[in-house]
Amino acid sequence: MPDLTSVVEDIAADLSTRVERGQVASYIPMLAQVPIGQFGIAVTTAEGETITAGDAAVPFSIQSISKVFTLTLALGKIGDELWARVGKEPSGNAFNSIVQLEAERGIPRNPFINAGAIVVADAMLAGAQPREALGAILRFLRFVADDETITIDEAVARSEKETGFRNTALANYMRAFGVIQHNVEHALGVYFHQCAIAMTCRQLAMAGRYLAFSGRLSPSGPRVVAAERARRIAALMLTCGHYDGSGDFAFRVGLPGKSGVGGGILAIAPGKASVSVWSPGLDRHGNSVLGSLALERLAKAMRWSVF
Ligand code: DON
Repeated sequence: MPDLTSVVEDIAADLSTRVERGQVASYIPMLAQVPIGQFGIAVTTAEGETITAGDAAVPFSIQSISKVFTLTLALGKIGDELWARVGKEPSGNAFNSIVQLEAERGIPRNPFINAGAIVVADAMLAGAQPREALGAILRFLRFVADDETITIDEAVARSEKETGFRNTALANYMRAFGVIQHNVEHALGVYFHQCAIAMTCRQLAMAGRYLAFSGRLSPSGPRVVAAERARRIAALMLTCGHYDGSGDFAFRVGLPGKSGVGGGILAIAPGKASVSVWSPGLDRHGNSVLGSLALERLAKAMRWSVF
């Protein structure tokens, strides 16, 4: 097996010279300002080591990657009842699409498209105010990442809200079907703020450990969630984590992964490692161009594909 540190360093060195990087998300003004020339990678292994290269210590907006953590928390809060309000199938549509909701009684296809994540945010409001729900999300992230410094970028949250016309439409539409059960503004408030959480590659790789190690922080470490829950979340990441680019990601990388329009991706090599990559340039589906390429190379070199 090749040496992981050299593989990670080679990938970072090679990608730093790439010219074709896609485009930074432009629909949220605060994200549009992020310089495109950055690339970071962090790999946390079963042995508890974290290997990093490039801009792995630079915080970025985790955006839709937050949907993995809120799903974990909402399942902990209301259990399998959640699946009555959100599906488990790939949508084949863009992350912010509304088209399927009318024919499907306001029930989003999966928890990782925006509509689904807003339902999950709504579930987080069961018996809690928005501030408490956000407090729970931050506490969970700080715990699983073993880092108390993780915070919400309020400027991004504001930018998100000011331009969130589609998300507002999705939430109101689902409220009309009774799928959203709390105040629409509250559900959106949680959603906009969770997307605006800022983390580094190192923090995100650490945070993904419980998904890589069957619900534990290391193969024999403290349990965070049941093994079955971790496995199911990883299954949804594989089938739905990259929206209408999920098939392509599975084909190329072969790992469960979740992308965000900030340019981050969290990928899980079951039993082996939790990996986070970040580069702000996106492809047409909203997935990081260099991030996907880095994961493709890493999975191939380490033979980590689940297939
Ligand atoms: O809802 C939005 O528009 C964003 N805050 C999050 C979307 C996102 O990250 C989609 N991912 N690729």
